[in-house]
Amino acid sequence: MPAIADRPAIEVSGLGVRFRRNRRGRRSIKDMFADASRRSRPDEFWALRDVSFTVRPGESIGVVGRNGQGKSTLLKLVAGVLLADEGEVRVNGGVAPLIEITGGFVGDLTVRENVWLAAGLHGMAKHEIARRYDEIIRFAELEQSEGTPYKHLSNGMKVRLAFSVVSQLDEPILLVDEVLAVGDKSFRNKCYRRIDELLAEGRTLFLVSHNEKDLRRFCTRGLYIRDHVLALDAPIGEVVDRYNADNAE
Ligand SMILES: Nc1ncnc2c1ncn2[C@@H]1O[C@H](COP(=O)(O)OP(=O)(O)O)[C@@H](O)[C@H]1O
Ligand SMILES: [Mg+2]
Repeated sequence: MPAIADRPAIEVSGLGVRFRRNRRGRRSIKDMFADASRRSRPDEFWALRDVSFTVRPGESIGVVGRNGQGKSTLLKLVAGVLLADEGEVRVNGGVAPLIEITGGFVGDLTVRENVWLAAGLHGMAKHEIARRYDEIIRFAELEQSEGTPYKHLSNGMKVRLAFSVVSQLDEPILLVDEVLAVGDKSFRNKCYRRIDELLAEGRTLFLVSHNEKDLRRFCTRGLYIRDHVLALDAPIGEVVDRYNADNAE
């Protein structure tokens, strides 16, 4: 058997996900009968289809594409929070997902309680949370707000907290979806330094971003999602150039 380090970090093959358009709330029993008598639902569409690629451990991948093309959907599939309708995702090791800023946090609980909750939900053991708690608060610069209900934090503070918790996880794969743009400049620089550290440790990074500088700085390879399929899998410079050329008008 090959050593773990020789196995791909992520293997995605023929991946596809369908969603329903115009879906409002729960489906009625009448809808279900109507659906059952129809072979395909006219209001369904493929948010992502035929996506295949392999990622080696320690690779750092930038994901680009216009809004609504399936980038977040791809990250959710890799994170395992969304199930595929077609194809499969194989992930070798755990995932530290920073996909939705408020994911894992509860509005009425304090910052302190939320650190315990969110880190625990991400699989961090109690003694690890106890050991890293101060660093999480310090990195997020929330020393003055430990007793504040989460819902009273500004968006920037929420991003700081989310990044701080996720960046303390030991998982080999880090998923970051368009969240860095929200923080202020000084915090962004801190995040960049932390991502540099994690990459130096050999973590695998998936970064969804519209910031060309960030993509070129952190990623060696790019995936360009266009019309819900993988249009280009190439060195990041080539991917950014193609994306820019497509969207020049
Ligand atoms: N849970 C869902 N139900 C229905 N449609 C969804 C759902 N999640 C995403 N979509 C749709 O799937 C498409 C891809 O979304 P997303 O992956 O978030 O795009 P991106 O991150 O590239 O902007 C969009 O049309 C979006 O509206
Ligand atoms: Mg998105």
